[in-house]
Amino acid sequence: MRTAPPTARPSTTEPLALSFRDVTVHLPRTKDELQILHGVSFEVPAGQVVALAGESGSGKSTAMLGAMRLLPWGARIGGSIMAGDNDIATMSKAELRQFRAGKARVILQDPWSSLHPMHSIGAQLIESARSADSNLSKTDARTLAAETLARVGIPDAESRLKSYPHQMSGGQLQRVVIAMALVAKPSLLLCDEPTTALDVTTQAQILELLRELNREMGLTIIIATHDLDVIAGIADRLVVMYAGAVVEQGPVAEVMSNPKHPYTWALLQTAPEHNSGARLRTIEGRPPALDNLPPGCSFAPRCDFAADECHTRRTQLVTLDATGNRMTACLRVQDDAVAESTVTDPLDLIDTDPLDPTVTDPTLEASAQR
Ligand SMILES: Nc1ncnc2c1ncn2[C@@H]1O[C@H](COP(=O)(O)OP(=O)(O)OP(=O)(O)O)[C@@H](O)[C@H]1O
Ligand code: SF4
Ligand SMILES: [Mg+2]
Repeated sequence: MRTAPPTARPSTTEPLALSFRDVTVHLPRTKDELQILHGVSFEVPAGQVVALAGESGSGKSTAMLGAMRLLPWGARIGGSIMAGDNDIATMSKAELRQFRAGKARVILQDPWSSLHPMHSIGAQLIESARSADSNLSKTDARTLAAETLARVGIPDAESRLKSYPHQMSGGQLQRVVIAMALVAKPSLLLCDEPTTALDVTTQAQILELLRELNREMGLTIIIATHDLDVIAGIADRLVVMYAGAVVEQGPVAEVMSNPKHPYTWALLQTAPEHNSGARLRTIEGRPPALDNLPPGCSFAPRCDFAADECHTRRTQLVTLDATGNRMTACLRVQDDAVAESTVTDPLDLIDTDPLDPTVTDPTLEASAQR
C-alpha cells in the first residue's frame, strides 16, 4: 500500500527550545588558543524567533556555529548548549549527524555556500529531504521539493526544479536554501545574516517568509544580524552581544524601546529606522581585541557612562525583573536597580535617560554632567 505523499503545507513541527548556558569557545592558534565566547547564556524558547545582534566580531556566528558543532577543527566548547533535553556539546557523531540532517538547519548569508553549482535545484532539494528521512521515496521527495519550492515563493516551482543555481537571482537562491532546510522538516532554523547580501526589498520579503514559517509551522528561529532594523518586525526576543558575551537580552519590543545597557542604546542609535529624524550616530571606538579584553567591563573604553569601578570590576549578566525576562550585564544599572528596588527604568539612574526626546545629544550631556 502506498502511503500518502508528504506535504509541505503548514504542519506543526515539534517545538524545540535551545538554551545556551555559560558557553565558552576557544579556537586553536599556532601556539595557544583564542577565547572567542566568554560564558554566553541565553534562551531560545520553543517556537519563538530570537535575534542575536551586535557589531562585527561580537561572536554571533561563533554562537550559531557552536550550536551546530560546525566550528573549525580543534575548537573547544565549554558550558552546555541544550536542544530540548540533549546537550549538543556532548552529542556523539551519529547523534550530531541526525541532529544536523533533520532537527536543525543552518541558513547562511551567502546562498552559494549552501548550494552545489553543478547540481539542479531539484536534485539538491531531494537529497536534502532524503538525508533527513531515508524512508522517503524519490517520487515523494520530488513532490515535497516542488511543494516546498512553491511555498517559499518560487513561481512555476515544478519546472524550476530543473534549474541550476546560476539560473536564479540571489533572492531566489536564498529561498531555495530555505526550501532545502524546510524539506527536512526541521524544528530549528539557525539563520546567520540571511539577508545581508540581498537588496532591501528582497531582504524584507525573506524576513517576512521566515516570520510566516515560524507562525505556520512552529519553527524555532535564531537570526544573527548586525542590523537592528532587520529584527524589529520579526523577532520575539533580542540578545545583544559584545566582545564574545551577552550584554543584554529580553523581549524585542522592550529592549528596543527601553534599552538597559549603554551598548544596546548606542547600537540602537546606529539604526536608521529606530532613530528616525535624529542625527545618525556611530559608536565611537572599536570593540576590544579578544586576546586583550579590558580587565573590567569590556565596553568601558567606549562607554559614556563608565565609572571608575567599570574599568576594574568584571561584569555578569543579571536578571533585572522578577520574571527573569530582562537581563543586563551593566554594573551601574544592576547596582542602582538593587539599591532602588522601586526603579522602573534603571538607565534613568545613570546620569541621563538616553531615549529622552528632550536630550538631543545624550552622550555630550552625560559627559557634561560628570
Ligand atoms: N576560525 C577563526 N579563527 C580565528 N578567529 C576567529 C575564527 N572565527 C572567528 N574568529 C574571531 O572570533 C570573533 C568573533 O567572530 P564571529 O564571526 O563569531 O563574529 P560575528 O559577530 O559573527 O561578526 P560578523 O558580524 O562580522 O559576522 C572575531 O574576532 C573573529 O575574528
Ligand atoms: S558597566 Fe560601566 S562601562 Fe560597562 S556598560 Fe555599564 S556603565 Fe558602561
Ligand atoms: Mg557573523
